[in-house]
Amino acid sequence: MLEKFFVHGGTPLVGTVRVNGSKNAALPILYSVLLTRGTTVLHNIPPLCDVTSTLELLADLGVKSGRRPDGALELEVVKEDGFEAPYELVRKMRASIYALGPLLAKRGRARVSRPGGCNIGVRPIDLHLKGMLALGARIANEQGYVVAEAPYLTGRRIYLGGASGSTVSGTANVIMAAALARGTTVIDHAACEPEIVDLANYLNACGAGIAGAGTPVVTIEGVRELHGSEYRVMSDRIEAGTFMIGAALTAGDVRVEGARFEHLAALIDALEAAGVSLQVEDDAVHVTSDGDFRPVDVTALPYPGFPTDLQSQITVLLSLAGGISVVTEKIYPDRFIHVAELNRLGANIRKEGNLAIIHGVERLSGAPVMASDLRASACLVLAGLVADGVTEINRIYHIDRGYHRIEESLKELGAVIDRVPADADSALLSLSPAASPALREKLVEYLRSATSF
Ligand code: EPU
Repeated sequence: MLEKFFVHGGTPLVGTVRVNGSKNAALPILYSVLLTRGTTVLHNIPPLCDVTSTLELLADLGVKSGRRPDGALELEVVKEDGFEAPYELVRKMRASIYALGPLLAKRGRARVSRPGGCNIGVRPIDLHLKGMLALGARIANEQGYVVAEAPYLTGRRIYLGGASGSTVSGTANVIMAAALARGTTVIDHAACEPEIVDLANYLNACGAGIAGAGTPVVTIEGVRELHGSEYRVMSDRIEAGTFMIGAALTAGDVRVEGARFEHLAALIDALEAAGVSLQVEDDAVHVTSDGDFRPVDVTALPYPGFPTDLQSQITVLLSLAGGISVVTEKIYPDRFIHVAELNRLGANIRKEGNLAIIHGVERLSGAPVMASDLRASACLVLAGLVADGVTEINRIYHIDRGYHRIEESLKELGAVIDRVPADADSALLSLSPAASPALREKLVEYLRSATSF
């Protein structure tokens, strides 16, 4: 069922929020279960659509899985004959490319639908293929599928840098494949993202020999077999960052539990430069703000640079700063679809190549807007929280891919936000009894004009 958000702006976020497990750490870890024998127990796997799609694909590939009463996910490979990630699933979720390395390493063969581009860019997989070729695979491109084969893989030294720097999923794919290769693999120009460290920690807990994860040189001593293990996936640093920006933006006071300084140093630096107060604790960051922001220049870069996945969210805050800020995107030069939507809300942002030039404005004003991808949807929710009046956000299935019921967490912090079905009749019926009279009235107004439904 299609749904939308109505966000009533103007309420500061106040309180404590705990972030979920990391989507982008959970996905490669789930795929790497294909490499193991025995039972794996994973804690902190977020209940997201992308996780459900991954478990469906893994089930097709012979992995039995189920949630335990304590919420942990238990998985075990019970059949080893499948080797395909079909288009129907890859089309929904690009991360299915993670099937390539494990299937090739463990089953000697993988047939994985080539992911296409998406709203944030072209998203090539040449570096994944370069890695698999270097490990000794034969690769063919057949009817939209990558078909890779190798009776066994052999460790090699592999340079994995591309035109845009390192690749997170490419590094993860090569690490997973090399974990069972014969001999030693060294990846030069590896991605240093915390999610890569989490994957390596998980695989090492299963008996792998991976060293250097989190640095640009990762060494993998191949082993014959990986066993099951029990592991807790890291917290989602992008969800944490989204709440931190939301707290700052709304002149709020929020303790974000699960936010870690070492994962978020670039964001913390940018927020401090903008005039936001932050107190860093062991496993939390406390954000307070008076809602007055200085302009800041931000460049999205591979870790430990400013994360591209928080680029659209920080843009909202800078659009309310007292001066001109420049946001540069060095990972996905076209990741700016949110700019036109923010301008609909009254922001003054000009896109020039891979730059957004932001002239700070006094206020944003609620309007209907269209979510275009996961992080751009989060940015529109943040904009709605601070805009005057009501912001109607359509196509929120994008946000559900990466945030587990974000509106529930925001409501706990005092936000006025409602998820409603995107068709007129059920929308009114589903409005929560707690919805403010202003929101109810606004919704009725929209329903009468009906054009956006
Ligand atoms: N690239 C290549 N060749 C490749 C692979 C990547 O040129 O073979 C380029 C890309 O076009 C891009 C850059 O390298 O310019 C970095 O891409 P990367 O491979 O690191 O991205 P990814 O692994 O496909 C992950 C996250 C993204 C996040 C990026 C960058 C997952 C499932 N996805 O994508 O997350 O933006 O790293 O940090 O982990 C999101 O969560 O919203 C999201 C898009």
